[in-house]
Amino acid sequence: MTTKIGIIGDGHVGCTVAHQLIISELVDDLVMIDVNEKKVKADAVDFEDAMANLPNHVNIKVNDYSALKDAQIVISTLGRISLETKGDRFEELEFNKKQLKPITDTIKKSGFNGILLVISNPVDAITNLYQQLTGLPKEHVIGTGTLLDTARMKKVVAQKFDVDPRSVSGFVLGEHGDSQFTAWSTVKVLQQPISEFTQDKSWRVEDLDNEIKEGGFTVFNGKGYTNYGVSAAAVRIIRTILTDARTELPVSSFQEKYGTYMSYPAVVGREGIVAKINLKLTATEEELLQKSAETIKEKSQA
Ligand code: 2OP
Repeated sequence: MTTKIGIIGDGHVGCTVAHQLIISELVDDLVMIDVNEKKVKADAVDFEDAMANLPNHVNIKVNDYSALKDAQIVISTLGRISLETKGDRFEELEFNKKQLKPITDTIKKSGFNGILLVISNPVDAITNLYQQLTGLPKEHVIGTGTLLDTARMKKVVAQKFDVDPRSVSGFVLGEHGDSQFTAWSTVKVLQQPISEFTQDKSWRVEDLDNEIKEGGFTVFNGKGYTNYGVSAAAVRIIRTILTDARTELPVSSFQEKYGTYMSYPAVVGREGIVAKINLKLTATEEELLQKSAETIKEKSQA
C-alpha cells in the first residue's frame, strides 16, 4: 500500500515535516498546500531536485485539495507566528480560526477520511475546532500537544543526570501552553522514580519546571520560530500511526471528563487514538490537569 500524506501550511514547520517525511522514507505521495503558491511550488521543486540523490521516490502534488481524498494522514501546520506575538500561542487563535472554516470545508469536500494531525497553535483549541468543523470521529483528530514539552522535559532531566533523554520516562500533561505541568510522579530516570534522587533535599524537581516550560521560548527568542522539535514530535506520531505501533504518547486527544482536547497519554495506532490509559496522579496533579482544561476552554472563548 502506498502512503499518502497531506500537509496544510508550508511555513517553517510544514516544510520541515515534509523534509523529515521524505528523508525518513515514510511517504510515497505528498500533497503540499499553502496560500503562498510561489513558496510551496518552490519547495516542491527543491524536494524534486533532491530525488535523484535519495534512495526513495516521492510524488508531490501542490495545492490540490482533491488529492487529499485517499490520504492516510493530513497535517495542519498553518499559523502566523511573529516576534510581535512574543511566542504567545493564543495570539495565533484569531488568525487560525478564520482560516479553518474554508479549509475544513475543502477537506470535507475532498472526501478525506483519514487521521488529522494538528500542529497549528494554540494546538488544543485548534484541534477542538478542527474536530468540530470536519465532523471526523474524535479518535481520528489528534494534536501534537505536549509530546514536544515531554521531549523538552526529558532533555532537561537528562542533562541534569548526564544520561540519554531516552533513559528518562514520564509526561508533561495538559495544555501545550502556559498551564502545562510536568507530572513528576510519572517521571523516572534510568527506571527509578525521580523522587528517589531528591531525598538529600539539595534540589527539588520543581526547580526544573521553568526551564521545561520556557524551552520553546528560548528557541523562539533565538530565531523567531521553532520547527525541529515540534516536527520530530509530529513525525513520531505519524510513524506510530502508519506502522500501527500502538504506542502510548502524550498527545492532545479529546478528554470526555473535561470536555476539551488536551494532552494526556493515549495509545496511538492506525485508527488514531485506539485506547485510553489511566495514570495514577497525585491530588495536586489532578488539580493542575483540571485547571489546565479550564484554561484551554476559557482562552478559546476569549
Ligand atoms: C513550540 O512550543 C511554538 O508551540 C511551538 O515549539
